Amino acid sequence: MEVKNITVLGAGTMGHGIAQAAIAAGFNVVLYDVTQEFVDKGVARIRKSFAKRVEKGKLTQEQVDATMALLKTATDLKEAAKDADFVIEAVPEDIELKKKIFAELDKVCKAEAILASNTSVLPVTAIAGATERKDKVVGTHFFNPAAVMKLVEVVMPIGVAPETIEIAFAVCKKMGKVPVKTKDTPGFIVNRLLGPLYMDAAQMVLEGTATAEDIDTAMKLGAGHPMGPCELADFGGFDVIQMAQDAVFAYTHSESSKLNILYRKMLEAGRLGVKNGKGFYDYLPDGTKKPFKIFG
Ligand SMILES: NC(=O)c1ccc[n+]([C@@H]2O[C@H](COP(=O)([O-])OP(=O)(O)OC[C@H]3O[C@@H](n4cnc5c(N)ncnc54)[C@H](O)[C@@H]3O)[C@@H](O)[C@H]2O)c1
Repeated sequence: MEVKNITVLGAGTMGHGIAQAAIAAGFNVVLYDVTQEFVDKGVARIRKSFAKRVEKGKLTQEQVDATMALLKTATDLKEAAKDADFVIEAVPEDIELKKKIFAELDKVCKAEAILASNTSVLPVTAIAGATERKDKVVGTHFFNPAAVMKLVEVVMPIGVAPETIEIAFAVCKKMGKVPVKTKDTPGFIVNRLLGPLYMDAAQMVLEGTATAEDIDTAMKLGAGHPMGPCELADFGGFDVIQMAQDAVFAYTHSESSKLNILYRKMLEAGRLGVKNGKGFYDYLPDGTKKPFKIFG
């Protein structure tokens, strides 16, 4: 099956970026959210991102207008999904919500449509279980910002058909992404491997081995990482890290995956990372950041 029509569910951080990458690749896209206000916010973020590319001379206004013409919006799920060949769900990370949406999609979508979830840590097999088309459900784990980041982890739940994986790969590649296959286990590849790095970095800060800033400098210059582990943890968000680590630890029981107490304490102190300007660093209104003094 050749995918032409993509429906993206959820116009938030990930959904708007995925929709942007999809229209930029020439797909017809319907962006769906529960209210027109949320949909409009997502569309405004896409427009803003394209406007920056026009400013930088990477795109012309005519190209942007032609691309934006491929984007439709909807607040009615049936209307949004009835013509879709491929649906990408990017609603909040809540298993009951995702199961409910997939059960509804199963009823309103064409029989041959493929249903993909952008979940970070939830079991795609359980999400597929809410449908009668378990062979046509797959994970497509995009990374933030989705319009820019190249990787997509294509997650294979139990019972998925090889053709579903092939189609997911073709969609990702047409979007300019690099897909990799992973079985449906918590954390997939990237978050499972990043977890121990985040945990050890926090433990070193707690022990006073080195400051967060020096750990970041060391890993950037010594290991060639583009961002240090503390900066990257701030970017990912401590609430998200907590959820991911709890899920990975429940599966692996590996000490290296167990949530470090420092993240729990940071969360208790209302520090979420970049999203509220408070993490290992304080993010200042002028766009700079300074290390946060954790213990006075
Ligand atoms: N933010 C990240 O860095 C990141 C990275 C990879 C994967 N993810 C995953 O992507 C998914 C979305 O995360 P996000 O950060 O974009 O969340 P978000 O909160 O920014 O956006 C979620 C959107 O879904 C909408 N929504 C809520 N209920 C809905 C429903 N019933 N139907 C349709 N839309 C609904 C909300 O209004 C909101 O616009 C989650 O599963 C998350 O784990 C997030």
